[in-house]
Amino acid sequence: MNSARKTYIIANWKMNFTPGEASLYLHRLQSRVERIPRNIQLVLAPSLISLQSLSLQINRRQFKLAAQNFNQNDFGAYTGEVSVMQLRGFVDYAICGHSERRYKFHETDKEIGEKVAAAIRNGLTPILCIGETADERKNHETATAIYAQLAGGLHDVSEEDISKVIIAYEPVWAISSNKGARPANPGDIEEATALIRKHISRIYGKTTAEEISILYGGSVNKDTAGGFLDVKGVDGLLIGNASLVADSFCAIIDIAKGKTNER
Ligand code: 13P
Repeated sequence: MNSARKTYIIANWKMNFTPGEASLYLHRLQSRVERIPRNIQLVLAPSLISLQSLSLQINRRQFKLAAQNFNQNDFGAYTGEVSVMQLRGFVDYAICGHSERRYKFHETDKEIGEKVAAAIRNGLTPILCIGETADERKNHETATAIYAQLAGGLHDVSEEDISKVIIAYEPVWAISSNKGARPANPGDIEEATALIRKHISRIYGKTTAEEISILYGGSVNKDTAGGFLDVKGVDGLLIGNASLVADSFCAIIDIAKGKTNER
């Protein structure tokens, strides 16, 4: 964690909770989470179907909402899709290029770049997810994979807009729902965040590279969160499974609060 940058704790609920369950869960979280310091931002990414109702229920001084996915076009003949323009009244953040979108739904770097641009165009903060697969890591292609995903995802992001982007490093092999998943070790994460800042520095300059927020995601739970937040270059966490249970998610929030007090 870096004292100049905010700490983000982001819950990706993926395809879990009906709208009723999501509302009950938010109620539970809001009654348990007390005052949040200004240098911590809590974000919830529920299913699309729950966004509208949660946006009415949410205490924005505690939590902001994020879309897990959206269509990069603002409107048009795209049956079944929802655009970020339609979502922008409900959310402040938009996850782009999550590995489940890349590998289960075959989203390309070009499409992800268009989504990042659409989020910025519509006044939202894109959270660009990147991360190598187990095979890429085994074949020493981690840097190549990270650079390619950054190049595609940031293709249309100008120097003026790059400060609006958050990057989430989520190595695919560390995501709990993937076979044989194991959390990344601090060294792997520090190396990856350094690669990300190196790429950003080459394209947008050193100051931007120092200022951009980079999160870690992959098998984060209440026992590991503190260690990940201590990794140099990490500004927060993107949490799947452990964000679905109030006890574990609130424990992670408390750990982040403790660490920001330590600063
Ligand atoms: P887990 O925390 O369940 O590994 O999921 C990580 C993730 O994919 C968050 O976007």
